[in-house]
Order: sequence, then C-alpha cells, then structure tokens
Amino acid sequence: MEPLAKTGGLADVIGVLPRKLNEIGCDVRVILPYYKETRKNLKRLKLKVKDLNRDVIVTIDWLPYKGRIKETTVEGVKVYLLAHDGFYDRDHLYTAANGDYKDNDLRFGFFSLGALEIAKALDFRPDIIHCNDWQTALTPIALKWKRHYNNDPFFKNSEVVFTIHNISYQGIFGKDLLDKFGLSGALFNPEQLEFYGRVNLLKGGILTSDLVTTVSPTYAREIQTKEYGYGLDGVLRAVAHAGKLAGILNGIDDEDWNPETDKALYARYNAADLEGKYENKAKLKNLLGFSTNGHVPLIGVISRLAHQKGIDLIVRALHRILDLGAELVILGAGDKGYERLLKQVSDDYVDNFRAVIGYNESKARRIYAGSDMFLMPSRFEPCGLGQLIALRYGTVPVVRATGGLLDTITDYDEGREHANGFIFDHFTEQSMLNTIERAISIYHNPPEWKRLIQNAMEQDFSWKRSSREYLAYYKGLSPEG
Ligand code: ADP
Ligand code: GLC
Repeated sequence: MEPLAKTGGLADVIGVLPRKLNEIGCDVRVILPYYKETRKNLKRLKLKVKDLNRDVIVTIDWLPYKGRIKETTVEGVKVYLLAHDGFYDRDHLYTAANGDYKDNDLRFGFFSLGALEIAKALDFRPDIIHCNDWQTALTPIALKWKRHYNNDPFFKNSEVVFTIHNISYQGIFGKDLLDKFGLSGALFNPEQLEFYGRVNLLKGGILTSDLVTTVSPTYAREIQTKEYGYGLDGVLRAVAHAGKLAGILNGIDDEDWNPETDKALYARYNAADLEGKYENKAKLKNLLGFSTNGHVPLIGVISRLAHQKGIDLIVRALHRILDLGAELVILGAGDKGYERLLKQVSDDYVDNFRAVIGYNESKARRIYAGSDMFLMPSRFEPCGLGQLIALRYGTVPVVRATGGLLDTITDYDEGREHANGFIFDHFTEQSMLNTIERAISIYHNPPEWKRLIQNAMEQDFSWKRSSREYLAYYKGLSPEG
C-alpha cells in the first residue's frame, strides 16, 4: 500500500481504492504486514502508529506464532499492521538478492490467517473481505476448507472477493503446506489445492472466493487462455462459466499524479500550456548527458525489471531504436540479471541511452514528465499503471497489444480524433520497431503530435468509475445488497 510498502502497481491500487470506497460510503480497513519498509516510511512521513495492545495467535506446524496489531491512518483510511519481526523485519517484501524468501509460505500464511484473527480481535465483522494476490489466498481457503474457520459464526455474513493482479505469481509450495496450516490432506487433489504435485495457493484462492476479479476486462479474458493462464486457464474458465469472474480496470490517483501540482518536477504544466513539459525535457536531457540540440524524441521506460515487462526486447532492439533517431532512458529495478545487462549496455552508449538502476519515485516523476513517449513492450500486462501515468503527463504511450494496455490505449491509426498512443501486436523486435518508427514520424509533425498529447492528457483514468464498479459487485454479493 502506497506510501507504506511498494514494489509495483498493487501498492498504487491499495493506496487509492480504499479511500475512494470510503468516499462513496464504505468503511474499509486495510490489513498489511508490518514490513521493515513500512516502519521506515511511517517514520519518514511522521505518521502515528498506535500499538493496540492486542496479540493474535496463528498456529503453524502445531506451534503458536504471535503477532501484534498496530494501527495507523493513511489519508483517512484505517490500516492495521500485523507485526511479527521474525517474518517481516527484513530488507525486502518478497524476494532477496538470491531469490524468494524460503519461508514465504509461512510469512503469508501467517498473514492470511492473522488477518482473520485481527477482524475477530477487534470485533470488526466485514461484509466483504477483499483479498489481493496469492499472498492472501489462505484467507478464503481457510474460510471454506479449514476446520473451525469454515463454520465460524463470526464470518457467517462475510463474502470474499479475490483480485488477481498478476497470474504469473501463484504461491506454489510443497504438499507439507497442508500440514503446516492444519488443512486436510484430502484437499490434495486436482479439483482443490493440488497443482502438478504441489500446492497452489492462488488456485485455492480462486476456487474458494465468492467473486474473482482481475484488473482489466481484456486480462479477464486472456487468463482463460492457455497462452496467458499460466496453467490456471481451465480453473478460470470454470469460474467465468459460473459467472464469478470480472475484469475491473484500475485507475490512478489523479491528485497525486498531476503535472500541474507535482513538486518533484522541474516545472509544472497542463494540457493548455505545455511549456513546462518542454522545460522538464530539457532539464532531464541535461542531467542524462544528452545534447539538447535539435528536435529529437526522448523515450522513457519506468518498470520493474521482470520477464513480464519485455526488457529483453528493448535490449535486443536497442541500437536499432537509437538508429531511428530517438533517445532512450530506462529507470528500473528488479531482476539482477536485467540490472547487470542494462548497466553493461548503458556503458556502451553515452549520448543517447541511459539506464538508471534503482527504485526512485522522484526520478520516475521527472521521466514521466520529461519524456515524449513511454514505452511498455510487455509480454503480458494485467492492467498497467505506467501507461496511465504517462497519459496524465502528456507522454505518449507506445505499448504492446495485451491486457490492460489494450483497454486503455487507442492507436493513432484507429482514428486521430481519439488516439492517445501507439500499439504493436507481436512480441517481436520488428513489430515494436515498426511502431516506434510510426510514432517518431508523427512526432515530427508537431500539430499532430500536440493533438496526441492533448488527447492523452484529457483522458480520465481516475478511480471514480472503477471504485463504483467494485462497490456494485460488493453489493451484489452481500445478502442485504
Ligand atoms: P507492475 O505492478 O506490474 O510493476 P504497473 O504499471 O501496474 O506495473 O505499476 C508500476 C508502478 O511502479 C508505477 O507506479 C510505476 O511508476 C512504479 N515504478 C516501477 N518501477 C519503478 C522505479 N524503478 N522507480 C520508481 N517507480 C517505479
Ligand atoms: C500487477 C500487474 C500490473 C497491474 C498491477 C496493479 O503488478 O503487473 O499490470 O497494473 O498489478 O493491479
């Protein structure tokens, strides 16, 4: 949850959606692990943390694990933090330099069951329990399939919504997970938790929730196919067939992401006056060591460095992108292999390519504002927020035709009146290069380009619509509507 803990777009979503739901009449409480990063951010932001003087106990492998409940408030939203230093006082959220933490099953199993215990300890009876990604899957699994929880009167009226932000992360562990969490061995069958000889938590979460959602309509269709379903397409087809799968497009926080007020920028601007945007570009180029002479398009990439994001495609096509007469800056962190690779290639170029390795919010804002185009060549993209932020900053997205990118970007060739970007179909260097070339040719037609920028900036991808859509689904589930 932004600003408490973030590795990607999930944090942006949880940072806004609860607030927007509260604004339309809900009473949302967020539950998060009390990560080391969270502790630091609370301190940095001078947010008060209250120790509620309450413990919760989760039994793992017959042993009681104790967690402490803390509370803070973020922009009016109440957040409960589940503290357990052994599990969460670590440098990263999920993955260290040498791979995923080995005890992620325990860390997130503890969290999923701890969340239910927090609700009970605080006597907060939720109408809806909204879970996000595999890390929370043991919550609905327990409510359906674990003794004592499955007939607990406390949760009698609670319905579970489960949102898949990315189906490639499934939480797959050994069969012993069942034992550890007191789940019956009989659940180890392909209709329930078993997945090719192991336990798949995401699969269990999907099967035991009352409604499954994902973050764009196109991705909701894609995950039902072999190509995008990562082995769960069959399960999702069944869920969709039962009318329990929905695709709800994410939004962005349009107050936070606003070039008119963004303090991180060198100059502020809006759709009517783009002078500040050009100033941001000049400053950014200076800083990157690029020449500020001439009318040269600057392409920005801001991304987790992961297989999903198509960074390898950019690296392979790099010199040909630059040969098209563009400059490129990449800001990213993640996979150590990609980090090394980008550093290496960055050293080969000085005046038109730079890779900035690291996670840095202010730099990200300056790149969103200072670039002309925003490149997102994703293999798959459940929703994608980068392209939405880019639109808001008048930076024209060049994206691959997949997932939420298809639901948010309209290609220039589809109609100049409504276009806000460029789309390429195939995950190939050539397909991407042809489209970048198309974009560059329009860039050299200033009135047309300006129209694209204005189309981009005028679009409304705020949370207003999506929060109402979530609420409508919640109401559809709860017995009193
Ligand atoms: P994902 O969640 O798959 O990483 P999204 O496009 O949904 O992709 O969200 C990415 C979010 O993370 C955006 O807010 C983006 O600005 C931010 N982000 C990604 N990489 C960085 C980085 N290196 N530094 C700062 N922000 C980043
Ligand atoms: C995931 C997806 C991204 C989506 C984000 C928030 O990280 O990769 O496409 O925007 O979740 O839902």
